[in-house]
Amino acid sequence: MKEPIISIENLTFSYSQETGKVFDDFSLEVAQGEWLGIIGANGSGKSTLAKLIVGLIEADAGEIYVDGLSLNEETVWEIRRNIGMVFQNPDNQFVGAIVEDDVAFGLENLGVEREEMVRRVNDGLTQVRMKDYATSEPVKLSGGQKQRVALAGVIVLRPNIVILDEATAMLDPKGRQEMIQVVRELKQEYGLTVISITHDVEEASLADRLIVLDKGKIAGDGAPGDIYARANLEDYGLDSPFHTKVQQELRAKGLPVPGHYLSREELLAWIRQYLSRA
Ligand SMILES: Nc1ncnc2c1ncn2[C@@H]1O[C@H](COP(=O)(O)OP(=O)(O)O)[C@@H](O)[C@H]1O
Ligand SMILES: [Mg+2]
Repeated sequence: MKEPIISIENLTFSYSQETGKVFDDFSLEVAQGEWLGIIGANGSGKSTLAKLIVGLIEADAGEIYVDGLSLNEETVWEIRRNIGMVFQNPDNQFVGAIVEDDVAFGLENLGVEREEMVRRVNDGLTQVRMKDYATSEPVKLSGGQKQRVALAGVIVLRPNIVILDEATAMLDPKGRQEMIQVVRELKQEYGLTVISITHDVEEASLADRLIVLDKGKIAGDGAPGDIYARANLEDYGLDSPFHTKVQQELRAKGLPVPGHYLSREELLAWIRQYLSRA
């Protein structure tokens, strides 16, 4: 088996003594090239975990390895360069006055030479389908467009890992859809490892692997379909996907719908077949 790209070992963390431990002896491995979804109720520790991985906050005990490097004061900058992060609020992520300057910002900081910078910014904006907005002001953009620009700013730095912390939470369904599609394409192109923290169970169902975080503990870990079939997501303050609720409802009404998880398409196919026989 390939070395995990992220390995968290026996992590313990609290913001303060009074508030208690957010993580207590927490361990997790993330495989190279994996799309890991993380779901969990508000306050379960998702953002704290992301901040610990990029070294924005420091663990009280335990080890974090990123791409073979042990996270510490000496490696934190190198590790941060290897991890791109997109946060929830599209309006807090702009530093440039126009879109292309914003995307170039990180490259300028790294001292990347002009020609290379222009090329990467152009490529990045094309990849997130924002090339036509290169000279637009951020205020003119929709939430979804802003998040895609933020993603471009991350991708031009060529990270191996991208963490999306509720990056689609404030977007409308269309904006969400476009963002997810772009992330998928970038993952494909660069072989990225993606960690997507989300409240959106439909989005989470696209992950290769899903973990359910409950008060700093892993309450579920597996293929999204298995998690939805087994875990009672309501117990963790989460909602089941709409199509899963429909499936459960039909079963409860005595229809012979299968008990195991069906994707939206599978459920639809089952319903069509059932109706054509009725
Ligand atoms: N800056 C902070 N200072 C103190 N406590 C915090 C801070 N940020 C988060 N917490 C607490 O840590 C716990 C985990 O929060 P967080 O990681 O933000 O959860 P999530 O992202 O899953 O909603 C919660 O109990 C929250 O109140
Ligand atoms: Mg959070």
